[in-house]
Amino acid sequence: MTASSLSFRFAVTFIIVGIAMGIGMAATQDHSIMPAHAHLNLLGWVSLFLFGLYYERRPALDTSRLAFIQVGLWSVGTIVMTIAVAAIHLGYTAADPAAAVASLIVLAATLLFAYLVFRPTTSAASGPTVRMNPAE
Ligand code: HEM
Repeated sequence: MTASSLSFRFAVTFIIVGIAMGIGMAATQDHSIMPAHAHLNLLGWVSLFLFGLYYERRPALDTSRLAFIQVGLWSVGTIVMTIAVAAIHLGYTAADPAAAVASLIVLAATLLFAYLVFRPTTSAASGPTVRMNPAE
């Protein structure tokens, strides 16, 4: 398992749930959980898929422990935030602290990703993969 394949698996799982939420909102004409749907799709599908593409292009990073931690943190933050935001918009304001914690988890995962992008070893040791096919 690599960090990119973990990202892609989480991303696909999140979009299935996100689309189910969207269809549920459309079918019931009740859009109150729209912010949760938007966060799940944009954090869980779009962003995670982009992380996966980035890691896939950097093989050394793709197997690193920090990249796994980043994907894990991001995914946990996305799940907690989606549930908390949905709860808040359904009237359960007690979920507010959970949304705050989730936002800090997502911030931590963002900072970790920034570290992985900026640290000198990442770009020096493993640039984008060059694939060469043998001549036929
Ligand atoms: C079958 C798939 C989907 C359905 C049925 C669906 C349905 C909906 C519905 C009913 C709303 C509420 C609109 C409103 O109240 O004004 C909404 C909002 C939203 N959806 Fe989806 N959605 C789907 C997929 C997606 C995907 C894949 C993404 C992102 C990658 C996405 C991102 C958003 C965003 C950002 C909003 C908020 C728009 C706003 O602020 O006006 N949706 N969606």
